[in-house]
Amino acid sequence: MIKVLTSMNEISQFLIDEWELSQKNALSKNNYFSVALSGGNTPKHFFQKLSEQKDKFNWEKTFIFMVDERYVPPDHNDNNYKMIKENLLKNINIPEKNLFPINTNLPIKESVIDYENKIIDFFKKEIYPGFDLIFLGIGNDWHTASLFPESIVLNEKEKLVSYVDEKSINNKRITITFPLINNSKKIIFLVTGKNKAHVIKEIIINKNIKYPASLVNPKNGKLLFVLDKEAGQELKK
Ligand code: 6PG
Repeated sequence: MIKVLTSMNEISQFLIDEWELSQKNALSKNNYFSVALSGGNTPKHFFQKLSEQKDKFNWEKTFIFMVDERYVPPDHNDNNYKMIKENLLKNINIPEKNLFPINTNLPIKESVIDYENKIIDFFKKEIYPGFDLIFLGIGNDWHTASLFPESIVLNEKEKLVSYVDEKSINNKRITITFPLINNSKKIIFLVTGKNKAHVIKEIIINKNIKYPASLVNPKNGKLLFVLDKEAGQELKK
């Protein structure tokens, strides 16, 4: 499904409603709601608005994971968890045990194992781990999560988490992989701005596998693109 909206307020409200719906569905089946969040700039407005409506949600039963992390110290401005903490987590009353940051104080390979083990442990009752809801973005260099075009990590079939160390990127990164992404119940892409219009057309209309986002294809879940008018402007041409 594709939803093109006109303002950031409308987009954030739509995403808050999706969060509410996913939480309701998850809590009616299990006793928890698992969400994985991306970093970057685009979701900041949504996180702020979500925290303003915090009283609508059951944070005791919400478990927040990271889609990816830049391998920088926790207090570095590029750290995704820092951004999520500042825009969402510090404003809500969520137990610390419900939060799953990626530990960038560990050597990178240990950090990957540590995060993967935490995910496996959390989903131990499930046949295969999968989140109730994932938010993804698309970067200016066309990566999604920290899955970059032509990266070897795109071919990962077993591991849930991987490190990414490509010459073309500034920082090393840690990311969840396609097997975990595609086993989730709902995946929402949040993409805005006219510089993303072409890639959105390539992904949605042409299914161009040059772009990692084209490989996002939930096995038993729903896929939703939430765009502003600028990002969606080439869809009708
Ligand atoms: C990251 C993000 C990433 C993000 C895109 C979009 O660490 O880079 O988690 O996958 O979703 O880069 O970023 P913008 O919203 O800043 O364009």
